[in-house]
Amino acid sequence: MAMGTVSYMVPLQAACPSCWRLLILAFFVATMLWKASQAQLNENPVVLSEASGFHRAISDEEMAKIYKQNQNADWLPWSNRKYGIRKLYQLLDTLIKGRPQKYLSLVVIKKNRIVFLPLAARPMGLTISRMRAIVQGLRNSTRRGLVFPDTVYLMNVWDEGRCYRDDDDPRPVKGPPCTVPVFSLIKSWNYSTATSTETDVLLPFFNHVYENLVFYPWEKKINKALMRAAMQAQMRPNCTRLWIIELQKNDPDGRRLLDAGITNNLSKRKDVQLVDFVPIPDHARYRYLLSADGFTASCRLGKLLGTNSVVLKETTPWIEYYYRSLESNVHYVPFTKDNVLEVVKALEGDPQRCQRIAADAQQFAYTFLSQHAKAMYVRRALVYYNSLLPDMEAFVQHLVWPQSAGDSGDDEEGGGLTLIGVMETMKKFVGARR
Ligand SMILES: *[C@@H]1O[C@H](CO)[C@@H](O)[C@H](O)[C@H]1NC(C)=O
Ligand SMILES: *[C@@H]1O[C@H](CO)[C@@H](O)[C@H](O)[C@H]1NC(C)=O
Ligand SMILES: *[C@@H]1O[C@H](CO)[C@@H](O)[C@H](O)[C@H]1NC(C)=O
Ligand SMILES: *[C@@H]1O[C@H](CO)[C@@H](O)[C@H](O)[C@H]1NC(C)=O
Repeated sequence: MAMGTVSYMVPLQAACPSCWRLLILAFFVATMLWKASQAQLNENPVVLSEASGFHRAISDEEMAKIYKQNQNADWLPWSNRKYGIRKLYQLLDTLIKGRPQKYLSLVVIKKNRIVFLPLAARPMGLTISRMRAIVQGLRNSTRRGLVFPDTVYLMNVWDEGRCYRDDDDPRPVKGPPCTVPVFSLIKSWNYSTATSTETDVLLPFFNHVYENLVFYPWEKKINKALMRAAMQAQMRPNCTRLWIIELQKNDPDGRRLLDAGITNNLSKRKDVQLVDFVPIPDHARYRYLLSADGFTASCRLGKLLGTNSVVLKETTPWIEYYYRSLESNVHYVPFTKDNVLEVVKALEGDPQRCQRIAADAQQFAYTFLSQHAKAMYVRRALVYYNSLLPDMEAFVQHLVWPQSAGDSGDDEEGGGLTLIGVMETMKKFVGARR
């Protein structure tokens, strides 16, 4: 028998051990190519958590502009004075003995261990979910090397500020005044005077994540302005969200240019027609995205900035921590309920401007609004806060905090600390220093 025929007789696997692997690989490649061509047919928006040509801020130097434009402005009413554990203790004591503080928690940080203690015996579900995300977001960043100062601070997670300037504020008093800095998520801001009637120091939401980018080809985008929003309980009948829906029904330009709707109804009074929810990636299928405030600032804004569609933001006084770094006509296009259709029509005639603004917004969101960048923003605020309460670190050293039983490093709420326990330690600490 000739050598050639021998190899012909042996099974393929023996003769060519890598042939099977090649075959499997070929099949795999063919499947991938088919999938890619299908994706091109359907053209789904592409969501990226890491994108080339973009950069994440990872140092205080890179965040300096954000700190300066936002945080420094919040600290202005507090600087040049000193506060201390005594003041914090007195405020806590007054708060706890007064009306239930449904949105306030005490956050305790010692050696990068972070927990929150709600002030109310029965806190709102919203308080728990927002606070859990904050604590989790900060803990995540400690795993990436971020070191927080040892501290204790008050955090308000309601949709408005908590601390009003005492002079002539017509609003009903919402409990004792803030005699030490209190941190919040949203407050109002007067852009022309660069001041606020609320002295809260703003910190980020962590339950809303702004770090993904969404891409969809501009030519394929629908030439309409999309708005999907909730009907908040506190929204007025003449609010901008409902006004936009009216325009879509009754104005010929509105019918042509708007795709607006309410996706969930949290209002007891208003009767609204509900429409389907649109996931954030699918927002990128529309050229223009409307961000209109609800009760106060709309947290969706950060997510919209990450799409390669142009964001139209309603001009209102409500801000989250980073809004003062957003530049009008650079990162977004401003509108009011009176000019919304004119603004969309002007954009329709200038696609290059739209794409430039969309691209700048994506750069902004990717660089500055990641979960880690938010945690750096919090760390910087807490370092400054501690400088205003000179006995803070000495106090935290006094705080006895047993190691958690599990070795996961993630304490359950409280992690063995209680509000009453921390208050007792504070009381003793203050008494000893009398
Ligand atoms: C913390 O990290 C985990 C794991 O990566 C992630 O699932 C979670 O969403 C992060 N939490 C926050 C608030 O960013
Ligand atoms: C901002 O402050 C100025 C000066 O006090 C005032 O005239 C203006 O109405 C304020 N703007 C807003 C939006 O409150
Ligand atoms: C809605 O009406 C109230 C009073 O009726 C007014 O103060 C407010 O400015 C109006 N809001 C808008 C968005 O037009
Ligand atoms: C919104 O909720 C209110 C109160 O529950 C109700 O009267 C109204 O019909 C609801 N609207 C819709 C569209 O569900």
